[in-house]
Amino acid sequence: AATARAYHKNVVDHFEKPRNVGSFDKKDLNVGTGLVGAPACGDVMKLQIKVDDDGNIVDSCFKTFGCGSAIASSSVVTEWVKGQHIDQAVTIKNNEIAKHLNLPPVKLHCSMLAEDAIKAAVDDLKKKRAEAKA
Ligand code: FES
Ligand code: FES
Repeated sequence: AATARAYHKNVVDHFEKPRNVGSFDKKDLNVGTGLVGAPACGDVMKLQIKVDDDGNIVDSCFKTFGCGSAIASSSVVTEWVKGQHIDQAVTIKNNEIAKHLNLPPVKLHCSMLAEDAIKAAVDDLKKKRAEAKA
């Protein structure tokens, strides 16, 4: 772009070396899948978690079709949630992600995508487990 703006080093780092890119089998009962889109720009993020029987997240991965900030946000979230319980993971706020990456205000919706995606992944897991028990 003509108006190149310097990205914070954490964004560049996560953009160039995104952690945990990939996908899990979404039919697996220990996997939760969150697929969300940003109406503002049309970008899409898929974030998945793998969970033990007690709801502790043992692994996480993502695929993001979006800007550098969206890729960096999903990469950060997959790092943060590993080792967390799902009840803790859903409390991650987009402003924590934005602060960590030093995102400018126009890029806040990119970190919102990651907050929405982790919540959606936990919802999906709970729904699947409830259905399996029914
Ligand atoms: Fe990667 Fe913070 S720079 S989680
Ligand atoms: Fe759309 Fe970043 S510009 S997710």
